[in-house]
Amino acid sequence: MESLERRYTVRDLAKMKASGRRIVMVTAYDAIMARLADAAGLHLLLVGDSMGNTVLGYENTIPVTMAESLALTAAVRRGARRAMVIGDMPFLSYQVSLEEAVMNAGRYLKEAGADGVKLEGGRVMHGVIRRLVDVGIPVMGHIGLLPQSVLKDGGYRIHGKSQAEAAALLDDALAVQEAGAFAVVLEGVPPALAAEITARLTIPTIGIGAGPHCDGQVQVITDILGLGGDFVPKHAKVYAQLGQAVLDGLKQYVREVTEGDFKPGPPEN
Ligand code: KIV
Repeated sequence: MESLERRYTVRDLAKMKASGRRIVMVTAYDAIMARLADAAGLHLLLVGDSMGNTVLGYENTIPVTMAESLALTAAVRRGARRAMVIGDMPFLSYQVSLEEAVMNAGRYLKEAGADGVKLEGGRVMHGVIRRLVDVGIPVMGHIGLLPQSVLKDGGYRIHGKSQAEAAALLDDALAVQEAGAFAVVLEGVPPALAAEITARLTIPTIGIGAGPHCDGQVQVITDILGLGGDFVPKHAKVYAQLGQAVLDGLKQYVREVTEGDFKPGPPEN
């Protein structure tokens, strides 16, 4: 399975968990990055609701709408050939009723060409996950730090430090698995707890800010490519400085045009 010619599936991910091969996921929000990430060998592209902070200019993920999320998911799908594309359901698109959850989740598959959806919450989302899976929608869970609950929690913090919280998180992970999710994101969880959850689950765990022992890792693409401005989350590793490269390139363009040094290529005919 080193380099598949077809698209990855949930069965490939299950085999990777069973054989100990690590799963690599990154967020993507447009066709250009999706094409590059696909060519780099990413297994999964998450069209995260982090689009709120990273590309839509909101303060957090709460305002992201279905229309925004579907449009960007469809763009990522158009750029990705082999990577699975996962649509990240926005706040209030799956919490109000089972009917709305099914209709909204289904739109990712029918309208945006996604291979599955992700939603936040553990035991409280058991019924929703079960219903979506029952109608044929692959679901990725997400437990630990839940960005859609940032207002309720009063900010972002590590979850599962106390014994009670750690036990609750393990219960959440087991509930998500029991409901039929094909994988679960562990965000902002102490590494030892993430390792324990990973050992207890038969579905893959995909960590962010959860240490190295998960079955896979997910990072926010703007963080790891130096496109996030001055703030870099502690859990992110920066692999390229694209922000600086873009700034340098655009400054040179401005200089050349304003100083009359810009020599365009010949016009197309
Ligand atoms: O929206 C997102 O980018 C996410 C990841 C942090 C897992 O949910």
